[in-house]
Amino acid sequence: MIVNIKGISLACSDSGQGIPLLLVHGYPLNRRMWAPQVEGLSDIARVLAPDLRGHGDSQAVPGPYSMELFADDLAALLDALDIQQKIVLCGLSMGGYITFAFYRKYAVRLAGIILTATRAAADSPEARAARDQAAELARRQGVGAIVNSMLPKIMAPTTYQQSPDLVGQAQEIMMATSLEGVLGDLEALKNRPDSTALLKEIHLPTLILPGDQDQIVPLEEAQSMQAAIPGARLQIIPRAGHLTNLENPIAFNAHVRQFIQFLQTMEGK
Ligand code: MLT
Repeated sequence: MIVNIKGISLACSDSGQGIPLLLVHGYPLNRRMWAPQVEGLSDIARVLAPDLRGHGDSQAVPGPYSMELFADDLAALLDALDIQQKIVLCGLSMGGYITFAFYRKYAVRLAGIILTATRAAADSPEARAARDQAAELARRQGVGAIVNSMLPKIMAPTTYQQSPDLVGQAQEIMMATSLEGVLGDLEALKNRPDSTALLKEIHLPTLILPGDQDQIVPLEEAQSMQAAIPGARLQIIPRAGHLTNLENPIAFNAHVRQFIQFLQTMEGK
């Protein structure tokens, strides 16, 4: 489905019934990374998976982008779909940074949050310099050069070596990001605020799902978030790198299902 918000068109998949579960992809990905969740969770939730601006089938709008702008896009998408009910927001990596931005402005729209393969801290000076180098590479050699440099790191080493189909799928998904999207993301990633101080203010059921072999965001980041967010639960996804939901969809979906069932019980009380 294509939804028009704020003068731009966003692609979004929308399936199932129940509490809205809004799945926000990372960099440089798109909604197709959530295929196992659309298939495996739409019996208990209304699973919504948009392509962020500049990604997948959404409009390739030039930057500047920011995490706040992405969060505003998501709020506008919920308005366009007339979703008044509180949602569960699940963000992977950059999607997690967007989840923090969404919480800052739209916490009243949330029933719970799921943070996967993400961190609260802002970029270090070295990471910021690496974003500039990546932008330079993308401008000179195109999106393919970015995808090739990221592929070996975005999954667990064992997934990369033993699951060529999954590697091919991730590659195809990443290749559908426009140059505008890659450049916009890199700017937004580089300039995102530090969300560490926000963590203790998050008074919402929270589930944290790190991969045990994530080469981009170390496991300790998830453990520190759990320690800081009051009452947060942490479940480590085994045999998974940065793409937790794709590399081990059975474990990922089981934890999300349990979390949704818990929220439903709370609602009934
Ligand atoms: C992502 O998957 O969204 C990125 O790896 C995030 C990042 O580079 O910080």
